[in-house]
Amino acid sequence: MSISIVILAAGKGSRMKSTTPKVLHTISGKSMLSHAIDAGLAISDDITVVLAHQAKRVQEAIEAEYKNINFHMQDAEQFPGTGGAMKGVNTKYEKTLILNGDMPLITQSSLEALTGGDADINMSVIKLDNPDGYGRVLIDDEKVQEIVEQKDCNKTQLETKTVNAGIYCVNTELLNRYIPLLSNENAQKEYYLTDIVKMAVDENRTVTPIYVEEEEFKGVNSKYDLAMAEVIMQNRIKKELMAQGVTMRFPDSIYIDCRATFEGESILENGVTILGASKIISSHIKTNSVIEDSIIEDSDVGPMGRVRPLSHLKNTHIGNFVEVKKSTLTGVKAGHLAYIGDATIDEGSNIGAGVITCNYDGKAKHKTTIGKNVFVGSDCQLVAPLTIEDDVIVAAGTTLNKDVTKGSLAITRSALKTIPDFFYKFFGK
Ligand code: UD1
Ligand code: MG
Repeated sequence: MSISIVILAAGKGSRMKSTTPKVLHTISGKSMLSHAIDAGLAISDDITVVLAHQAKRVQEAIEAEYKNINFHMQDAEQFPGTGGAMKGVNTKYEKTLILNGDMPLITQSSLEALTGGDADINMSVIKLDNPDGYGRVLIDDEKVQEIVEQKDCNKTQLETKTVNAGIYCVNTELLNRYIPLLSNENAQKEYYLTDIVKMAVDENRTVTPIYVEEEEFKGVNSKYDLAMAEVIMQNRIKKELMAQGVTMRFPDSIYIDCRATFEGESILENGVTILGASKIISSHIKTNSVIEDSIIEDSDVGPMGRVRPLSHLKNTHIGNFVEVKKSTLTGVKAGHLAYIGDATIDEGSNIGAGVITCNYDGKAKHKTTIGKNVFVGSDCQLVAPLTIEDDVIVAAGTTLNKDVTKGSLAITRSALKTIPDFFYKFFGK
């Protein structure tokens, strides 16, 4: 669709009480600004983000994630306000949709509703019982007349319950003409973007109010707002996944990153956390397990299992208190209390309780490779770099620091000594 998008993200966000720029706070694993950009990218290839406060940090974060996003620096000292933010912004197409960087809950279908039709301005409006804080939309004879900011309202205007949700789709040519004409003669001494509505009405242009869902247009200004937006986003993610066939036991206790994907039929028990771009394929993730940026395929994990980034589990059983990191396990059983890091383990192998891959020597990480049908007994330390070939038995309690060839038994064990009656000599009878 030939539409340009401008995302306003220059505000200070002081109510967030944070050293992190407001729009970089995350919801379901992704920054608020990324959520806005993603919604935008679904309908546009010309996106400009307006920045001022901590601009470099925000720009770097976005550039690490996306290509082809334009940035515009607002001169917020000289031209404060949403109108000031638009000063000097150039957009490519005939219509420009203006979004806010702190509205992460907007959906593609709302954006489509706002960009439809052929009015000169489509503006988002909400009817609220308590309109406090919002600009009031004055409508006469079903026609929008103007937007008056709360601080500039007279008593009757304050009673207006139809408010400006803050998102507009504007004829680009009008926008370019109106922005330089904005003045800051108002209660806040700011350049208000909202004044373009009256300018358009005065020229007999069409301004269409588009009634929108309050939930989607809620601005996130504080840590409380952030938490509430997170709840809404999590509910959306889980509802969609359940519709797709994922079973969730007590979903309110489950957390799923918006980048995670599911295939087949999986079960998530209560307290499960799925982070990053994990992919869960026909697997059973049990109570209080954490999966991060990993692929879990036809496997079961937990309860209380932890799979850290870049792992791939296939036909594998991971039991309680087992931690796996950057490892590929195919057809493996590791039932209890183990650390498996930087390892590749092949089919039919069993990792006993208390087994540790010693992957870090204090300077660098090293790999452990374990072949097929290897039985690693309980409480072994596997000192990497290490290769164990197929069909090997590693006896319980072994500290292994040399490769083991196919078919062998590896055992390190100091001779057992028993001293009869020592207990009674030591403690007395
Ligand atoms: C704005 C609207 C108000 C509407 C409300 C909806 C104006 C004048 N008023 O008010 O009618 O009801 O949104 O939420 O537009 N920003 C900049 N540069 C600035 C100031 C703001 O980029 O100098 C950005 C902010 O980062 C934010 C967006 O613009 O993403 C809205 O700014 P905000 O200060 O929240 O506007 P409101 O005063 O709430
Ligand atoms: Mg605001």
